Amino acid sequence: MTPPTPPAPPIEVRPARAEDRPAILAAIGSDATFHAGEIAVATELVDAGLDGDGDYLLRVAVADGDVAGYVCFGRTPMTRATYDLYWIVTHAAARGRGVARALLAAVEREVAAAGGGQIRVETSETEGYGAARALYERAGYPLAATFADFYAPGDALLVYYKRVPA
Ligand SMILES: CC(C)(COP(=O)(O)OP(=O)(O)OC[C@H]1O[C@@H](n2cnc3c(N)ncnc32)[C@H](O)[C@@H]1OP(=O)(O)O)[C@@H](O)C(=O)NCCC(=O)NCCS
Repeated sequence: MTPPTPPAPPIEVRPARAEDRPAILAAIGSDATFHAGEIAVATELVDAGLDGDGDYLLRVAVADGDVAGYVCFGRTPMTRATYDLYWIVTHAAARGRGVARALLAAVEREVAAAGGGQIRVETSETEGYGAARALYERAGYPLAATFADFYAPGDALLVYYKRVPA
């Protein structure tokens, strides 16, 4: 008889530090989801966050002692309490273990602790973003808007929008 699988170790979410940069960039480049232009923008936001730009808050998820993923979010300019989730990535080798779920939950806890508000997430309707859509839908993010052909013909922009109470 095979012994029962031990429970997965907990995933810790904490603010990113400068030394996390290589692991964050490794996660971003760990599969073919993002093209070079997207990687450049993601890296720019990571560097802004690591430089202490309060518009781009960075949190990393640590699993088994390693940075397995990160999230970049911040309060949307000109809003009272709306936040944009700019980027969320789990390293391809660490997917399917709740890393992104833990990151999203941490963002929601921070928004709640700051008095509550709304979180907006944008993604694409293409196949490569199926995991992202599943993540948001499983985490209770209602699909609020669809902009057909936004990124390219047949590639809509999907906007998810969740209210987070205080
Ligand atoms: C999207 C992404 C962040 C999900 O990360 P992850 O750590 O594997 O996700 P989790 O294990 O936390 O899963 C969270 C939920 O989404 C679901 N999910 C995640 N990947 C899925 C997939 N490929 N197919 C179906 N459902 C999926 C899980 O079943 C889980 O649901 P549950 O909470 O009901 O159990 C990851 O696939 C990724 O980094 N993709 C490339 C980058 C990207 O697309 N980022 C988003 C746009 S910036």
